[in-house]
Amino acid sequence: MSEYRHVYISEIGNHQGQDICLKGWLYNKRSSGKLHFLQVRDGTGIIQAVVFKGDVSEEVFATADRIPQESSIEVYGTVKEDKRSPIGFEIGVKDLELISEAEEYPISPKEHGVAFLLENRHLWLRSPRQLAILKIRHQIIKSIRDYYNNNGFLLVDNPIFTPAACEGTTTLFETEYFDEKAYLTQSGQLYMEAAAMAFGKVYCFGPTFRAEKSKTRRHLTEFWMVEPEMAYYDLNMNMDLAEDFIEYIVREVIKHNRPELEVLERDISRLENIKKPFPRITYTEAIELLASKGKEARWGDDFGAEEETVISESYGRPVMIHRYPAQCKAFYMKEDPDDSRLAMCVDVIAPEGYGEIIGGGQREDNLDVLLTKIKEHNLPQEAFEWYLDLRRYGSVPHSGFGLGIERTVAWICGLHHVRETIPFPRMMERLRP
Ligand code: 4AD
Ligand code: MG
Repeated sequence: MSEYRHVYISEIGNHQGQDICLKGWLYNKRSSGKLHFLQVRDGTGIIQAVVFKGDVSEEVFATADRIPQESSIEVYGTVKEDKRSPIGFEIGVKDLELISEAEEYPISPKEHGVAFLLENRHLWLRSPRQLAILKIRHQIIKSIRDYYNNNGFLLVDNPIFTPAACEGTTTLFETEYFDEKAYLTQSGQLYMEAAAMAFGKVYCFGPTFRAEKSKTRRHLTEFWMVEPEMAYYDLNMNMDLAEDFIEYIVREVIKHNRPELEVLERDISRLENIKKPFPRITYTEAIELLASKGKEARWGDDFGAEEETVISESYGRPVMIHRYPAQCKAFYMKEDPDDSRLAMCVDVIAPEGYGEIIGGGQREDNLDVLLTKIKEHNLPQEAFEWYLDLRRYGSVPHSGFGLGIERTVAWICGLHHVRETIPFPRMMERLRP
């Protein structure tokens, strides 16, 4: 059948009336008398291929009748307009080649429990819902890279093996490193600060690791983070960047992923409301807001998921909460010159209860203050000598933040749990498949 050109389902519309070949898998099937309706998927979409007894050999008709779900097949036929189909076309089958007949497939199109689906994540990925989610993830990552690449940032890759903690010592994954101990990176930030002093505006984008012992719908042990870091940026400039960046990502997804958002039944009007400026409130104002909604929080405690959800309900847009008590935050945060109890930090809380998607702030650029902070946090000074050098040689005000990819995907897609936002999630109780 060499005259039949291989075409992907996503491009089928350009081939109306032509004889083409599809290479894919059988997603679902229904039959009625002289007709088999094969739902064929090829990774770019799903299309109905109609096998009419009168059009094919007896053998092909019997094969279409027999083969189970997820068998791999090549379908030869004519592209026909079909107004009832979601993609507008179907295939009139002339021939069919079975590449590999599948065993009985464990995931049928009916409902399954999440635990079972996670066990079978390697197969679950084949469902249209997972395709929609991962296409949106793909677009989000592309938009992130486009945003920084088009705004004068240099991509600087951070190391994954690190000698010291960035985000607290309780969530470190330790590993042997010859005769030493190393930790998997929790954040590339400290290295980005060095890079910002070298190159001005930089970003890193990669996997980060935290031994999170909490089983929540927002925590993974391995997640992806993009971290911009900018020399000569203060906290306000950092917040300006964060809101512009988020607005851009959401706009790009709306522009490119409407069909996928529809598969996920996402309320797109909520995403269309994501416009600058985002509300900016201080931590202390957030405490007052919580109190006014009958949710008492003690000044000095960090916010958890419940507080973040109540705060986010007041706004249809992401809210930026700045100037938390220093005690809630990491050692590197710049002390507020107007109130030494506060850190010049910002968390961005997504709407609709999706929680914190960005954490960041202005960095402490004063050598002596930073030394005190390292001691107060009981961190080993030797491990941070190189980092302290950045304050010894031409220290400048600088800021940055980290945006968690999976929480951002969960929010934009409207998914209850981050486990579906990454191809192979790693959580406290999940290392397989
Ligand atoms: O707030 P975090 O801990 O900030 C940092 O790591 C900074 N060093 C970043 C920086 O300033 N360069 O983490 C940043 C974001 C969070 O807002 C959240 O979106 C995500 O990373 N995140 C997680 N996502 C999934 N699972 C986890 N366990 C996460 N921990 C943080
Ligand atoms: Mg944080």
